[in-house]
Amino acid sequence: MSNNLLKGKRGIISGALDQNSIAWKVAEKAHEQGATFTLTNAPIAMRMGEINKLGEQCNAEIIPADATSMEDLENLFTKSQETLGGKIDFVLHSIGMSPNVRKGKDYGDLNYDWFQKTLDVSALSFHKMMQTAEKLDAMNEWGSILGLSYIAAQRTFPDYSDMAQAKALLESIARSYGYRFGISKKVRVNTISQSPTMTTAGSGVPGFDVFFNYADKMSPLGNADAESCADYCISMFSDLTRMVTMQNLMHDGGFSTSGITDALVEELSK
Ligand SMILES: NC(=O)c1ccc[n+]([C@@H]2O[C@H](COP(=O)([O-])OP(=O)(O)OC[C@H]3O[C@@H](n4cnc5c(N)ncnc54)[C@H](O)[C@@H]3O)[C@@H](O)[C@H]2O)c1
Repeated sequence: MSNNLLKGKRGIISGALDQNSIAWKVAEKAHEQGATFTLTNAPIAMRMGEINKLGEQCNAEIIPADATSMEDLENLFTKSQETLGGKIDFVLHSIGMSPNVRKGKDYGDLNYDWFQKTLDVSALSFHKMMQTAEKLDAMNEWGSILGLSYIAAQRTFPDYSDMAQAKALLESIARSYGYRFGISKKVRVNTISQSPTMTTAGSGVPGFDVFFNYADKMSPLGNADAESCADYCISMFSDLTRMVTMQNLMHDGGFSTSGITDALVEELSK
């Protein structure tokens, strides 16, 4: 259903790898709501070619960018403004990757070069995007920038490993840059802390199925899926949320404020 919530708005959406990606659903819904935008992902991720389908479906140009490369990001913001015909109103950072998680490294035996890669890809890239946008003066006033986080930033989930530190950093960057961008351009910056979701990044975490089911039972509304996360992102890009900034917004079906639930008690009593 379209209410044209994003009519006339121009955006950049990163991180759509395949149809399960949260960013994929955000792109579909942004298109439905009248936005025009460019799509971006790491050049390696694009070799799979899936993103081309989304580009056609949403009439969106695809601009490859490794989110850790300042040069790529400059090109992304410059080309996006050229293609879309003006400054940018919304940006989605939907990027996460940990070589330590991917390669099954134990938390007591982390590879520190990989740890730095985790932080660079999953958190510093958020800062890099905003610094690039600011230097190029690429954002429109009252624009909205969003990153996607996970509750492991606040609570320990052992298998999430160094991604927990990356998410804590991501959320901190949202506050610091939100302050700066709020004053200079009235741009708001937030993170959405999403339930476990069946995507490539999500299911890369060991024991994800158990994790997923536990969270589902610990949430009065159940886990929030990618589709509903995309709805929330659209509302955050719309003019209905103009005064929300520097927040980490829980989108988790009630997980973060539940102590225990009947569903979990029932499961544990079996
Ligand atoms: N799936 C979950 O359970 C879950 C829960 C909470 C938060 N999140 C977060 O949501 C975001 C999107 O993840 P997703 O679950 O849709 O998985 P996904 O695997 O579909 O998306 C992750 C994206 O990051 C991209 N990426 C990796 N390295 C990159 C780089 N150097 N430059 C540019 N892009 C790069 C990948 O190509 C991919 O498109 C991530 O930040 C993730 O941590 C996911």
